[in-house]
Amino acid sequence: MYYPDELIEEIRAKNDIVDVISGYVRLQKKGSSHFGLCPFHNEKSPSFSVSRTKQMYYCFGCGAGGNVITFLMEYENYTFQEAVQELARRAGVELPKMEYSKEAREKASLKSTLLEINKAAAQYFYVQLKSPPGRTAYDYLKGRGLSEETIKAFGLGYSNKYSDDLYRYLRGKGYKEDMIRQAGLISTDEKHGAYDKFWNRVMFPIMDANSRVIGFGGRVMGDAKPKYLNSPETLIFDKSRNLYGLHRARSSRKPYFLLCEGYMDVISMHQAGFTNAVASLGTAFTAGHASLIKRYVQEVYLVYDSDEAGTKAALRATPILKEAGISAKVIRMEPYKDPDEFIKNLGAGEFEKRIGGARNGFMFGLEVLEKDYQMDSPEGKTAFFQEAARRLTRFEDELERDNYIEAVAKAYQVSAQSLQKLVTKEAVRTGMAKPVSRPKVAGGKKEEKEDGRKTAQKVLLTWMIDDARVFQLVRGIVTPEDFTESLYEAVARMLYGQYEDGNLNPARILNHFQEEGEHREVASLFHTRIRELTTGQEKERALKETIWRVKENSIDVRLKGLHPTDMAGLQRLTNEKRNLPEIEKLHISFD
Ligand code: GTP
Ligand code: MN
Repeated sequence: MYYPDELIEEIRAKNDIVDVISGYVRLQKKGSSHFGLCPFHNEKSPSFSVSRTKQMYYCFGCGAGGNVITFLMEYENYTFQEAVQELARRAGVELPKMEYSKEAREKASLKSTLLEINKAAAQYFYVQLKSPPGRTAYDYLKGRGLSEETIKAFGLGYSNKYSDDLYRYLRGKGYKEDMIRQAGLISTDEKHGAYDKFWNRVMFPIMDANSRVIGFGGRVMGDAKPKYLNSPETLIFDKSRNLYGLHRARSSRKPYFLLCEGYMDVISMHQAGFTNAVASLGTAFTAGHASLIKRYVQEVYLVYDSDEAGTKAALRATPILKEAGISAKVIRMEPYKDPDEFIKNLGAGEFEKRIGGARNGFMFGLEVLEKDYQMDSPEGKTAFFQEAARRLTRFEDELERDNYIEAVAKAYQVSAQSLQKLVTKEAVRTGMAKPVSRPKVAGGKKEEKEDGRKTAQKVLLTWMIDDARVFQLVRGIVTPEDFTESLYEAVARMLYGQYEDGNLNPARILNHFQEEGEHREVASLFHTRIRELTTGQEKERALKETIWRVKENSIDVRLKGLHPTDMAGLQRLTNEKRNLPEIEKLHISFD
């Protein structure tokens, strides 16, 4: 399903980028740009800039950038079409209704197809749960105290005992086997062909922040292993960038999230009225999860299991949250195993009290630490305070450190001054200058290594977009066809057209690329930074070198494509090559 270019441009132009992004990120005007904290990586000082004149955004920290459509694609995980639909709705532009013919469906991007398949599977599992073969599964869920509304709200389902019924159902809906496999729902072996991945399990659809089904968790109804089977990671299912329950928690209007360990915990919390509960997807908590949470709240209460594994997980998660600028508190579930059991036994009111009595992550860490020391002997106690002091030295901010020293002193009934002295001593001993180790920046995109000739084309294009004088100089020498990468050639064509019409509009060029991979690649053209060169002379040299490489590559590519008998063509290209040194005579002043 493709919308006409003019319509997309109309929608883009009606959604001012500063207005739209302001709905997600707090922006402040500085000079000609608006700055804020980048929503795509963790940072404490703003390097995310939005330009009203260019209608583009760019982050100097992580390199994310693009137009208003790109922003929604990245932030909301939308496909191009979904982003356009959302912006159309926002601007009150009516979109033509398009029929999904079989051909159109095949043409739609891979991602949309995988989303459709997962949605169809969720519907299928739900119907199974409600039909006679699903009786045991339905009783199981009821037996665990889930209400009809809860089952419906979370779209719970059942994968029955046939080994390929889902596969046949999806094939019957017209989806190709390869697509169903890419959606993570089937496996294949040589003897049996395709068979369903999930079999006789209670199904938990996993939804992204926009309530689209991106994968499943399936639980056995007894004690068999593995207890949970999860969808594999696919094009649409990234376990480190999604959280179970987020689609509901994001609109809970509470200033904090309750972070649990399991799907069942999230569900019973929501049922008890705590609709701000989320959980990671059967994986450890990562910096990616933290930056996702940071988009919605600044505070997290950890509600992990009371066992050793849960305690360890909570201790691991706290520094990750803190590093992302999220304050972390820990709620204990003792004497119960997990929030699910706690709520069942003591109810929502008692849970609310536990929220009120939550301890901050640091103090919780000390409490756990205590167990390693003999607190009733002077030696044990001293050793404990030494370790506590060591941990206190890790607060870089002096005020924060002092506040914690005071809190620890109060909690353990020692004098703040002597603790302060101990902290100073530890700091000196361990070398205060040593920086804290930082977790890796979340979601840093692995830039595949581009080869030199591609880079040269990219740099030249970026430079021409950035500086009209460069365009004027280059246009007579390099034509759009000289960009041998077809994507760059397409961009160059539009760029040359816009310059010639006197209305450069990079945001509009981006509209044209609706397939996600291409869209991201073109977006990156508009914010690849030209290497900082100190003098104008150096810039001039670099530009000439780049033109030379692009031109030479273009000639080489055309030479390779030449028919062996095409003597005239060979002559022409050899001449072109001989003329390359002319590039040296170009002059442009960057000073
Ligand atoms: P119940 O035991 O039914 O209450 O479910 P739970 O959600 O509380 O599960 P539990 O506390 O045992 O585990 C927490 C989370 O870890 C689960 O929700 C799953 O995401 C994940 N998990 C648990 N067991 C498995 C397993 O065997 N395989 C995988 N891949 N993930 C698991
Ligand atoms: Mn549990």
